[in-house]
Amino acid sequence: MTRAPIGVLASGRGSNLLAILEASNAPDYPARVALVLSDVEDAPALDHARAAGVDALYVPPGPRRARVSPETEARMVEELRTRGVRLVALAGFMRILSPRFLDAFPNRVINIHPSLLPSFPGLEAQRQAFAHGVRISGCTTHIVDAGVDSGPILFQAAVPVRDEETAESLAARILAEEHKLYPRTITALLTQELVFDGRRCLFRPKGAPR
Ligand code: GRF
Repeated sequence: MTRAPIGVLASGRGSNLLAILEASNAPDYPARVALVLSDVEDAPALDHARAAGVDALYVPPGPRRARVSPETEARMVEELRTRGVRLVALAGFMRILSPRFLDAFPNRVINIHPSLLPSFPGLEAQRQAFAHGVRISGCTTHIVDAGVDSGPILFQAAVPVRDEETAESLAARILAEEHKLYPRTITALLTQELVFDGRRCLFRPKGAPR
């Protein structure tokens, strides 16, 4: 089986990267992580990648706090393309990518977010949901667009909020669902055809008549 090379962008702890690396150990997993890029030089995610024998590069993000400089974005695209990457998974990547980067991989830059979007985009989503008093939270995988956590939804997993919950316990239970949802999302994108119905993302067997 040929496994599609994918890229992962991460700024921190890298537990979702680890989940993807672990999933890709299965012989029938359709992806292999070909490159991990980070805007944080000492991100644990880079260590996880290197420990797994995966190319890992620190890409200096430049002077702006929330974005990556155009030069660095161009380099990121080049490093990914050199390795044949067609799918880019953001896993705790804390910067907004420009349309220039996104257009290099149309509808193939994806993200995971720890809430049921469109509720609670942005930072500390689990804490926001907990403080709001929602009874069900969860996580969402989505296509990345030029906004923040605003692109079309791919998959979601629900996590009911228990009476005895704390913000920390909720975040931990959501994270456990993320680790299942992200590898499954990557499998769907690589083995099925993604069809849009407005903003709705539908999956069909490859080559099926429309
Ligand atoms: C996860 O909660 C993910 O949903 C969010 O950032 C966090 C990254 O965690 N986008 P990790 O670095 O994968 O452990």
